Amino acid sequence: MENQKKVLFSGIQPSGYLTIGNYLGALKNFVKLQDQYDCFYCVVDLHSLTISQVPAQLRQNTYNLIALYLACGLDYKKNTLFIQSHVPAHCELAWALSCYTMYGEARRMTQFKEKSAKHPENINVGLFSYPVLMAADILLYQADLVPVGDDQKQHLELTRDIATRFNNKYSPTFVVPEPYIPSKKDGARIMDLQDPEKKMSKSDNGGAVMMLDSPDDIMRKFKRAVTDSGNEIKYSTSKHGISNLLTIYSAFTGKSILECEKEFEGKGYGEFKIKVAESVIEGLKPIQAEYARIIKDKQFLEEVIAEGKQKATYASYKTLRKVYRKIGLIL
Ligand code: TYM
Repeated sequence: MENQKKVLFSGIQPSGYLTIGNYLGALKNFVKLQDQYDCFYCVVDLHSLTISQVPAQLRQNTYNLIALYLACGLDYKKNTLFIQSHVPAHCELAWALSCYTMYGEARRMTQFKEKSAKHPENINVGLFSYPVLMAADILLYQADLVPVGDDQKQHLELTRDIATRFNNKYSPTFVVPEPYIPSKKDGARIMDLQDPEKKMSKSDNGGAVMMLDSPDDIMRKFKRAVTDSGNEIKYSTSKHGISNLLTIYSAFTGKSILECEKEFEGKGYGEFKIKVAESVIEGLKPIQAEYARIIKDKQFLEEVIAEGKQKATYASYKTLRKVYRKIGLIL
């Protein structure tokens, strides 16, 4: 019988250690949705090349990320866990789709502007066409749903526009995917602990809490977290630091923001920060233990990667052939 489940696709770049932002914004939902959907979880190594990488480190980060997917509880038999560069169809479809993406659309992407500003010495063409490769990732698998953090919303909108344009020009070819983004209070955009007006990011170690940080490091980072001059533990758009900490605490304990506010009524920032750190340490403990076990088992990781490659290759070529046929290429 045909698999009736809807399809889910998402990816994470192996461009460093993952933060609790990556976890709350995306990875946690990967785990939550894995039974409901037919899921493709990709390590998007080709996307990482848009920023300068140390080759040996990129290789290690790729293994680390597969191990982390597994450690979080993603089942590699039920889902397809794979490495983007192992499936050439991603680049092939990206080229075709780039001819249906307007220069003006790509130029408007906020992430392109931000990353160009951050790395002015390396504004490469890959950075510019990055969202087209991302559209190819998603459309190749006919994904219905794409769980991501808030920063990827604009890329998802572009993907939908490209798919709709292609479908209208030829005939229905791609499923037009829906984003799955948590609410702000559920972690759509976790902010940097040192600069709570800036998104927490893999590349900024100071204010970013990594999923594999030691309990001591986690505690230290939270103790040093920037708050504000007030003393109330309340969620508010004017209290970036405290709101961010409340979001993290709420996500790791499963309590609502309101419950968290009540719990800390009349308490000081110092005590609150320690409690937040403890909730994160506790929440990450089982993942870290699993990770430590899995990362040592290279043979198992190779097996997971090989199986993912096979399943993803099979699924992707169906779409690629359909696209090539429709646009007039000889198969
Ligand atoms: P990447 O690797 O930067 O981030 C992985 C996921 O984590 C989310 N995220 C956050 N969520 C909440 N708070 C934060 N501070 C935070 N930082 C990151 C991101 O939104 C993302 O969901 N372009 C993507 C990778 C990608 C992809 C795809 C995703 C490539 N192809 C296809 C989905 C579908 C990226 O750079 O993610």
